[in-house]
Amino acid sequence: MRRMEQGDAKKKKIEVLSYSKTEEVSMRKKFLSYFKNCPIPDEEILSNLGLFLNRQTLSRMLFMHELYKQIINVHGIIVEFGVRWGQNQALFSSFRGMYEPYNYNRKIVGFDTFSGYPEVSDEDGNNEFIKKGAYSVTENYEEYLEVILDYHEKESPISHIKKHELVKGDATVEIKRYLDENPETIIALAYFDFDIYPPTKKCLEAIIEGGHVTKGSVIGFDELNCHEFPGETRALREVLGLDKYKIRRDVSNPLTSYIVIE
Ligand SMILES: C[S@@+](CC[C@H](N)C(=O)[O-])C[C@H]1O[C@@H](n2cnc3c(N)ncnc32)[C@H](O)[C@@H]1O
Repeated sequence: MRRMEQGDAKKKKIEVLSYSKTEEVSMRKKFLSYFKNCPIPDEEILSNLGLFLNRQTLSRMLFMHELYKQIINVHGIIVEFGVRWGQNQALFSSFRGMYEPYNYNRKIVGFDTFSGYPEVSDEDGNNEFIKKGAYSVTENYEEYLEVILDYHEKESPISHIKKHELVKGDATVEIKRYLDENPETIIALAYFDFDIYPPTKKCLEAIIEGGHVTKGSVIGFDELNCHEFPGETRALREVLGLDKYKIRRDVSNPLTSYIVIE
């Protein structure tokens, strides 16, 4: 496990945790240069991105697909807690277009500060990479992401109805505001990827104790049973208990898991 600082001197430094070996990092750096210097013409490049997806990235995408398939006949919206660059938001939009293009009720909502962790707590342990501001994004990134998500929506029917929303700010505050303003909310799929305790606990309480999930709702987790990020498991243990629902693991990924409300 190592700490990675991304970006060069001109860009803002962004700290994230990496489990990669030094050799893997240098191999990927070289591979990135092949991506940046790709000879495929512009008109064909976006339909050939599979060339650059490694096993790890592809398995994460397949897991999101797996979760989506489980909620096709469950009424309600999709919420991602911890969006960052927003790949899952884009994937969910494409899955909606593929599997239920006329379900304009399947809103996709993403919560994030878009400036990294706003606070951490004692429950998050004392690893050096868990600190205020880690996992941030570049300035005004959410504006760029809005444009990307608009594009994906336009690739499917009923695009005149906006079906995605990014909620910027500290989710420990924003979740209450969102649910107060949208009291009709049923959550079919919630994906928890804040990494840390305070927002995971608060948002789990808000959606479960607040009565916003139904039988069949799927709740996914990115870091359960993860030593480096103990806060997510702790939040689940305190809100639901670990033995109330079967915690199913993703067969292609060591960390990701989910429960189904029964
Ligand atoms: C690991 S990243 C999410 C990655 C993303 N789900 C993905 O799959 O690419 C964790 C995110 O949680 C966000 N976050 C952490 N605490 C938060 C809080 N209290 N309110 C809003 N966002 C928070 C961070 O800003 C960061 O973008």
